[in-house]
Amino acid sequence: MNLCPAILLLLPLSVAAAPKVTFHKNVAPILQARCQACHRPGEAAPMPLITYRETRPWAKAMKAAVLTRKMPPWFAEPGVSHFKNDRTLAKQEIDTLVEWADKGAPEGNPDEAPPPLVFTTGWSIGQPDQVFEMPQAFEVPSTGIVDYQWVLLPTRFAEDKWIRAIELRPGNRGVVHHIAAFARRGGSKWLAEAKPGVPVPKAPGGPEAGQSDGLIGEYVPGLPAKPFPDGSALFLPAGSEIVLQLHYTPNGKAASDRSKLGLIFASEQPRSRFFYFGVTNMAFVIPPGEANHSVTARVTLGADVRLIDLQPHMHLRGKSFEFRAVYPDGSQEVLLRVPRYDFNWQLTYEVAGEKILPRGTRIEATAIFDNSPNNPRNPNPEAEVRNGDQTTDEMMAGVMHLALPVDFDLRKLFLRPPSPAYERKSP
Ligand code: HEC
Repeated sequence: MNLCPAILLLLPLSVAAAPKVTFHKNVAPILQARCQACHRPGEAAPMPLITYRETRPWAKAMKAAVLTRKMPPWFAEPGVSHFKNDRTLAKQEIDTLVEWADKGAPEGNPDEAPPPLVFTTGWSIGQPDQVFEMPQAFEVPSTGIVDYQWVLLPTRFAEDKWIRAIELRPGNRGVVHHIAAFARRGGSKWLAEAKPGVPVPKAPGGPEAGQSDGLIGEYVPGLPAKPFPDGSALFLPAGSEIVLQLHYTPNGKAASDRSKLGLIFASEQPRSRFFYFGVTNMAFVIPPGEANHSVTARVTLGADVRLIDLQPHMHLRGKSFEFRAVYPDGSQEVLLRVPRYDFNWQLTYEVAGEKILPRGTRIEATAIFDNSPNNPRNPNPEAEVRNGDQTTDEMMAGVMHLALPVDFDLRKLFLRPPSPAYERKSP
C-alpha cells in the first residue's frame, strides 16, 4: 500500500470539520417558522433574519434571546392550555440555535436551504372591498409621550354590513405602536364632538360621555390580520361608524402617519357571528406603592358560546393576568395564565380546538398590578391609579372573541343585565 500517512490522518479530521449544524440546513427552517413573521423588512422587528449575511452577526444575540425565552415573544404559562398560534420554541429548536452560535455560525451548503418564504406585501387579508385612509396625517413629534389619538373615519354605512375580514395598516410602522378600531352606532354620544378625519386626544369621559360599541379590530406588530375564523363575520348595523384609536411612540425623528382600514364584506349570510367583549372592571383604585394589587371581573354567560381567543389588556403597571372558566357544575379551568405580562406585546392567544363554554359558565378574569418603585415601567409609584385610556392610567380588560349564532340576541349573552354597550341592534 502506498497511501501517504498524512492523508490517513487528514481524512478523519476533515470529516469532523464538516459542521453538523449549518445555517442553510438547520437554522433557516427555524427562522422561517418562528421568526420571520416579524424579522423581515417592513415588519416590527429591527433587523431581518432571512439571509445568511443578515443573520450571521446576530448569532450570539439570538442564542441569548432564545435561551432567556425573550424571543419569540410569547407569555402564556406553558402547559396550562393550548393555543393555535403558540410560538414557543421546542427544546430541540433552541439547542440547534445555541449549537449554531457556539460553533461559529457556519453557513453550510445553500443547496440544503428551504425555499424562501413568500410574503404578501400588501393587505394580508387580500384585496379589501373598501379602504378608509385617515384623510389627514397625524404629525408625530420626535420625542415625548403622545396622547392616544382618536380618528373618526367617514364610514357611516347606509345599510347593515357583515364584515368577513378587517385589517388596520399603519402608515408609518416606525411610530405606530398600536391601532384599535371601535364601532360607534348612529346617534351615539361617544366622541360626539369629533369631526371625520380630524385626530383628537380624547377628552376625559364620564358616564354621560357614552362609550364605544366595542372593539372590532386591532393592529399590533407581528400579528398579520386574517379573516375571522370559520366563516364567521362581524355585524355592523346601518348608521355605524368606525373610530380608530392610535398609539404613537416617538422614535427620535419627527414623522407623519396616515393609517388605513381595509374591510372585506361577506357576500352571503355568514355561518356565525364574530363578537368581541371585554371582561372588565373599571372601578378599581390602585394604592401608591402597592406591588400586588389584584382586580377581578366576572360575567356569567347566558348562552352556549364558542371561545375563539383571549387577550389580556393592562397598561404599564400590569404584572400578571389570568382567565378562568367556572362551569355550571362548579368545576374550574384556567383558560389562560400570563405570569409576566409585558405591555409592549399585546398578544392574542388563539384557543386550540373547538372550545364551547356552556350557558351558565362564569368567566372570571384577574389582573395583578405593580404600582411599586420596583416596577421599572412604572411612570409614577406615588400615584393612586384608576381606570383610563392613557398608558399612565390603568386598564383591566380580559378581551375575548366569541362565535355566536348569526341571529343571536345579544341581550341574552349575559345572565346579569347587560351594560349599555351590548344593547345594540341585532341582525
Ligand atoms: C412577534 C414578532 C417577533 C417574533 C416572532 C420574533 N421577534 Fe425577535 N424581535 C422582535 C422585536 C419587535 C424586537 C425588537 C424589540 C425587542 O427587543 O423587544 C426583536 C428583537 C430581537 C433580537 C434582539 C434582542 C435583544 O436582546 O435586543 C433578537 C436576537 C431576536 N429578536 C431574535 C429572534 C428570533 C431568533 C426569533 C425566532 C426564534 C424572533 N426573534 C422572533 C419581534 C419578534
